[in-house]
Amino acid sequence: MSRFLDARFAGLTPYVPGEQPRGFDYIKLNTNELPYPPAPAVAAAAEMEARRLQLYSDPESRELKETLAEVYGLSPQEVFVSNGSDEILSFAFMAFCGEGRGAAFPDITYGFYRVYGELYGVDCDIRPLREDFSIDPSDYFGNDRMVVIANPNAPTGMCLSLADIREILRHNPDVPVLIDEAYVDFGGESALALLPEYDNLLVVRTFSKSRALAGGRLGFCFGSEGLIRDLETIKFSTNPYNLDRMTQAAGIAALRDGEYFEKTVGAVIKTREETAENLRKLGARVLPSRANFLFVSLPGIPGAQVLAALRARGILVRHFSAPRISDFVRITVGTPEQMDKLCAALADIINSEE
Ligand SMILES: Cc1ncc(COP(=O)(O)O)c(C=O)c1O
Repeated sequence: MSRFLDARFAGLTPYVPGEQPRGFDYIKLNTNELPYPPAPAVAAAAEMEARRLQLYSDPESRELKETLAEVYGLSPQEVFVSNGSDEILSFAFMAFCGEGRGAAFPDITYGFYRVYGELYGVDCDIRPLREDFSIDPSDYFGNDRMVVIANPNAPTGMCLSLADIREILRHNPDVPVLIDEAYVDFGGESALALLPEYDNLLVVRTFSKSRALAGGRLGFCFGSEGLIRDLETIKFSTNPYNLDRMTQAAGIAALRDGEYFEKTVGAVIKTREETAENLRKLGARVLPSRANFLFVSLPGIPGAQVLAALRARGILVRHFSAPRISDFVRITVGTPEQMDKLCAALADIINSEE
């Protein structure tokens, strides 16, 4: 730390992203990327734009917003796009949680909520998950803070039903309710259907998972025109050109290939179910996931040990040392071949413990 850093940031604990290895050819199951490449038209669309990089990108992202609006049946004024959904979360914490308002979210959830809370000096009400790792919707009723729920939740993969989300909204008419649907395409129920009824609902999505564009950094969200305008105000007050030309074009091309999207997401769901079954046969505890990852614990082997043993066998997964979940590892669903190798490695790890 230099002597110039503002005192309010001195104690900040930044988010630690999953490892992006260089050199060694790992089976990479640690950051919930799609194991398949982007839709075939994406590369050419991005390359076309690469030839025009002397020009700024469209700060209003009009074509991208229009395409999203068309695909999801909304108006472009109800759509916001950003440099990854992380940036949308950051903007929302900045815009809606200050001045004695705050945010409420579960203790076990996406780690960045806590970091944004700290960064912006937000008063965070952190609610424990139930014993079975599910979210109790009534924990969030009658809030005077922004409610933030990842659905499916991370790193558990577990879901709230649309009826539960509706109840949370019904009991919180006067604060923003942000539903982070980073993983919803893999089998969750989207809150999008509730948008016409609730002007305080913000549905946050990403191209990083189901659309195979993690490296492009493209997030989007849906909400009432007022909420979207608020986010635009923050964006135009920080970095109007937050989306480069190539990423905008890549996003449009990915959206236009609905068939490829359905095919790849369907393949991941099928592989997830097969892998969960195989892991249970090995004696593992596997939480019921509707995401593109599985949260898994092996009987009698701490999560940190599983992480290290898999790494030694060339497989990267993710481990969190927080209480209650330190026995688990989070495993991204890869190709069937990768999952076969994972299951063989886990069987080997279990055998070598016995
Ligand atoms: C629940 C959740 N929300 C948001 C994000 C951020 O995704 P991105 O910034 O790549 O859009 C992630 C990434 O892992 C996530 O797990």
